[in-house]
Amino acid sequence: MAPDPDLHALLRSLRVWDVDALPAFDPSTAPAAPLPLFTAWLAEAVAAGQPEPHTMSLATADEHGLPDVRTVMLHGADEEHGWSFASHRGSRKGRQLAARPYAALGFYWPAQGRQVRVRGPVSTAPPEAAQADLHARSTGALAAALTGSQSEPLASLADLTAASEAAWARAERHPGTPAPTWTLYRLRPDEVEFFQGDARRRHVRLVYRREEDRWRRGLLWP
Ligand SMILES: Cc1cc2nc3c(=O)[nH]c(=O)nc-3n(C[C@H](O)[C@H](O)[C@H](O)COP(=O)(O)O)c2cc1C
Repeated sequence: MAPDPDLHALLRSLRVWDVDALPAFDPSTAPAAPLPLFTAWLAEAVAAGQPEPHTMSLATADEHGLPDVRTVMLHGADEEHGWSFASHRGSRKGRQLAARPYAALGFYWPAQGRQVRVRGPVSTAPPEAAQADLHARSTGALAAALTGSQSEPLASLADLTAASEAAWARAERHPGTPAPTWTLYRLRPDEVEFFQGDARRRHVRLVYRREEDRWRRGLLWP
């Protein structure tokens, strides 16, 4: 094994906003609602070669208000339902969302020095919508959902292999198999913030806050 690196020296050697040209962001040209801007930035992240730009941090709080976070995939976003993601309702995040149906999402696209932050109440989609969403995805996604027991203690990797093999076999043989605990969550934002990083640290932050049926926009100090 290589000798332990000096963590602090390593951290000091790393840079952010170190790409040749970060995009300019003029907030005066931003649309009246956040979704079109999010869609444009996601498409630009894809075009810039940002790996896995559709993954995001999902922050929740437990019944005591203590925070938690993990990575999940974005399944969609629209005006009516907001930003959607899927998981097992019995998982840790599922239990937290049942206790406190409010969450925050964080996207970071370093290829362009961009961050998007979304927060708001979370609801669950009808079970048919969750199953349809799952069955429109890959065999691997269905096999993962069918493996089940997410966030429960695992006695051995052999147990995981056995459950996963069985789940893959079911997913391949019966692609319409339901995964009953699989839940589609919808976060309807109260607030969406766009951050454009700048090499001179004059980062541009534009926040949209929902006010009844319209969005109010404002800038924030970086
Ligand atoms: C790139 C990536 C994408 C992931 N996507 C999902 C997802 O869409 N849904 C999910 O339940 N877990 C997903 N996971 C796993 C979660 O990060 C997490 O380990 C799992 O959901 C258990 O979280 P919990 O114990 O807080 O409930 C993903 C992990 C990574 C690294």
